[in-house]
Amino acid sequence: MRSPLLTLPKAELHIHIEGSLEPEMMVALAQRNGITLPYDSVEAVQAAYQFENLQSFLDLYYAGAQVLQTEQDFYDLTWAYLQKCAAQQVRHTEIFFDPQTHCDRGIPFEVVHSGITQALLDARVQIGVSSALILCFLRHLSAEAAMATLEQALPYRGIIIAVGLDSSELGHPPSKFQAVFDRARAEGFLTVAHAGEEGPPEYIWEAIRLLKVSRIDHGVRCVEDPALVEYLVEHQIPLTVCPLSNVKLCVFDEMAQHNLKQLIDLGLCVTVNSDDPAYFGGYMAENFAAVESALGLTPEHLVQLAENSFKASFLPPEKQKPYLEELLTYKTSLEKI
Ligand code: HPA
Ligand code: ZN
Repeated sequence: MRSPLLTLPKAELHIHIEGSLEPEMMVALAQRNGITLPYDSVEAVQAAYQFENLQSFLDLYYAGAQVLQTEQDFYDLTWAYLQKCAAQQVRHTEIFFDPQTHCDRGIPFEVVHSGITQALLDARVQIGVSSALILCFLRHLSAEAAMATLEQALPYRGIIIAVGLDSSELGHPPSKFQAVFDRARAEGFLTVAHAGEEGPPEYIWEAIRLLKVSRIDHGVRCVEDPALVEYLVEHQIPLTVCPLSNVKLCVFDEMAQHNLKQLIDLGLCVTVNSDDPAYFGGYMAENFAAVESALGLTPEHLVQLAENSFKASFLPPEKQKPYLEELLTYKTSLEKI
């Protein structure tokens, strides 16, 4: 049976746009903007990508993001990612962006927002990739700073459909941001949060109970709490799992030890995503390929993951429908091979 990796229609629900900054673009933008990087070549950048945990990655990721300065830079970054989506049959993507990473070094919110948004709008028309934005708060910063960022974003509602929580998880529980998320929901935003990547199951419970999230980003540590697994299964709260990221950041020692198949077998609504593709060794197709071979996933598993990705998306049911129908046609064609 042919591998459905590249041709499988799917949605991506966990991608940080700043994490799609490829070393080549990092070096090119540094040159364009007259910024000196601590690396003298693309190879030197790549060689630095050896991480021990989330924090060791975040240190490099925030440093890399400094090359993003102008609206054109944000446009180029987003456009390059969307081209990857089109090439890998990612029909719909819900993209995280971190305004604090940029605004705190003097780049106006408007510049970040318009560069990204213009690329999203062009991609809808020119390459048929549908999209939405999720504004993430940096959880290592204060709740007050998150609230100020939310207020800054209010005039830009529309393409920003949800707020999320990323950056250093340990020591920064979801409860720290309860008031910010209350306000975000009152303003009409949906909510998601990174939880249970490095943090304990209790952080997943807090994200559900206090932040009232629609999805959990990562969530792989849920298996440590059977009552939590039962709750996630019963309510079909999706997990946006990022396999290559989890291995690169040492959440699992190797892909063969990843618990993705266990999560599927437990009846959880699991999706596969790339997180920070330029840093972790691949986009959606590479993540699917990695779990397929290391965990022995069948074509049926892969189709299930793709189906989950559309159902777990924030697309309204009538917009999910054509993608699910396309997937059904695809599944039928696989069965004939
Ligand atoms: N976890 C938390 N914060 C992040 C990540 C991640 O995997 N990627 C970018 N910011
Ligand atoms: Zn992430």
